Amino acid sequence: MAKVNIVGIVGSPRHHSNTEVMVREALEGAKETGDVETQLLLLAGKKINPCLSCFKCNEKRDFCIFRFKDDMHEVYEKYLAADGLIIGSPVYHLSISGILKNAIDRLGQGLNSKYRATGRPWFAKVGGVLTQGMGRFGGQEYTLQFLVSHLLLMNNMVVAPGMGDAIGAIGSFNNQAIRQVGVIAEYDVEALPQSRALGKRVAELTRIVRTGAETLKDELPEEYNKYLLQRQAITDYARATQKWESKQGKALS
Ligand SMILES: Cc1cc2nc3c(=O)[nH]c(=O)nc-3n(C[C@H](O)[C@H](O)[C@H](O)COP(=O)(O)O)c2cc1C
Repeated sequence: MAKVNIVGIVGSPRHHSNTEVMVREALEGAKETGDVETQLLLLAGKKINPCLSCFKCNEKRDFCIFRFKDDMHEVYEKYLAADGLIIGSPVYHLSISGILKNAIDRLGQGLNSKYRATGRPWFAKVGGVLTQGMGRFGGQEYTLQFLVSHLLLMNNMVVAPGMGDAIGAIGSFNNQAIRQVGVIAEYDVEALPQSRALGKRVAELTRIVRTGAETLKDELPEEYNKYLLQRQAITDYARATQKWESKQGKALS
């Protein structure tokens, strides 16, 4: 079986954030399971503009056409290259951070536009979600719920850190006004073990899904082979980018 690639997305706009600590721990958990490579996508320091609702992606059946005007192309590249995903966000107003919402809007809309005529690609990525916030009941569950719904809408599967706990890994500063970065483990002893367990489960399930698709290759609909094993979406994205680059070249000459 090919190595599986688990991508950790960190939705905090701050460098060395508490969210980053948890996502990194989840990726360590993923690595424990064997033949796994990991990548980190940090939104901190990146420019990800909001979706303008121009519907150009829709008209052209393409990924967001403005993805090279800011750092959005990196989100597409890493997202499409992932077999499994860990998505982490700080709690912002009982939900995800603005920068992560911008990325999700433009990713979801672009992929929907690209594939709507042919049926959505059968991504079947395995995802896990995590969050942390200031409040003890600060909106962590709403935040996780949004991210779970996002993964499902994108034709993926979701796994939790374990049964009977939460639907993702959670951290909390227990209503203390802690504003420092990277200190969640000092205030919440559960945050890192939960993150690690989450990463481990995402990697295990990713490997199970991939092995299953390989074993049942001749019996399953062609889309599983195309998108899950051959990773057609990566090729589609590379082609669309080449087309965009050659148009830019023509526009300059
Ligand atoms: C705009 C904004 C909104 C926030 N809203 C909430 C909230 O609704 N609930 C909560 O528990 N914490 C809230 N917080 C606190 C953050 O979740 C907390 O500072 C978190 O540790 C930041 O994560 P980071 O270190 O990954 O950037 C908010 C912080 C900001 C900046």
